Amino acid sequence: MNEHKITIHTLREMKQRGEKIAALTAYDFFTTKIMDEVGVELILVGDSLGMAVLGYENTLPVTMEEMLHHTRAVARAKPNGLLVADMPFMTYSTVPQALDNASRFVQAGAEAVKLEGGESVSEQVRALVAAGIPVLGHVGLLPQSILETGGYKIQGRTPAAAERLMLDAQAVEAAGAFAVVIECTVSQVAEEITKAVTIPTIGIGAGAGCDGQILVSSDMLGQFTWFTPKHVKRYANLAEETRKAFAAYKHDVESGEFPGKEQSFR
Ligand code: KIV
Repeated sequence: MNEHKITIHTLREMKQRGEKIAALTAYDFFTTKIMDEVGVELILVGDSLGMAVLGYENTLPVTMEEMLHHTRAVARAKPNGLLVADMPFMTYSTVPQALDNASRFVQAGAEAVKLEGGESVSEQVRALVAAGIPVLGHVGLLPQSILETGGYKIQGRTPAAAERLMLDAQAVEAAGAFAVVIECTVSQVAEEITKAVTIPTIGIGAGAGCDGQILVSSDMLGQFTWFTPKHVKRYANLAEETRKAFAAYKHDVESGEFPGKEQSFR
């Protein structure tokens, strides 16, 4: 057994010790290798794949096949970080469907799956956990529900909404989820949920009071520059670096500077 391997139990112990959990999304082999080298504890093959890689406008068109393809690529990196796969829109509407699709993710190399929703998916969470498949919950802003909720809005702004969020987080905890993502939620509400549940909370746009943080890697790397949400901190500007490299290559080809002697065979 690899002593560095992060499991759902490691994450729970981190919460108990008050240690913060660093999570990121990944969609390919090479990025996963690099984030694993720095010790990112949870690696999510998010359905943000749709926007970050595939050019969709939102997560709704993402299919099981697309998610499985990228989960396999990430799994080939054999990360120490816990590998979680996001179940796409309408792939866990019923318990049998959730079991069927989650098992395909496990066979593709995922060590857990993520489902959006609180009380409404607690039956599915309970069944998956009973079948031996760890589940990461997801409450707050639910990108798979934007058609119904009317868009990407900050959650928990009213006492009733805050209470609903608390009940949802407690419902996924009671159903056996090992941790819960809280997305785009008023910081104080996320902090109260974090204190109320024993499982780790992983925030994205949910303030500093969560047990851990997650960002979409293409956002924090500055790859996806067309829109940057307020909660994202940019740690690099890969779009600009990539643009410069492509422009320099084009220039070198046109001017005859590439290939030079170093890149040619005699
Ligand atoms: O798909 C995704 O990247 C996510 C994160 C935002 C948590 O669900």
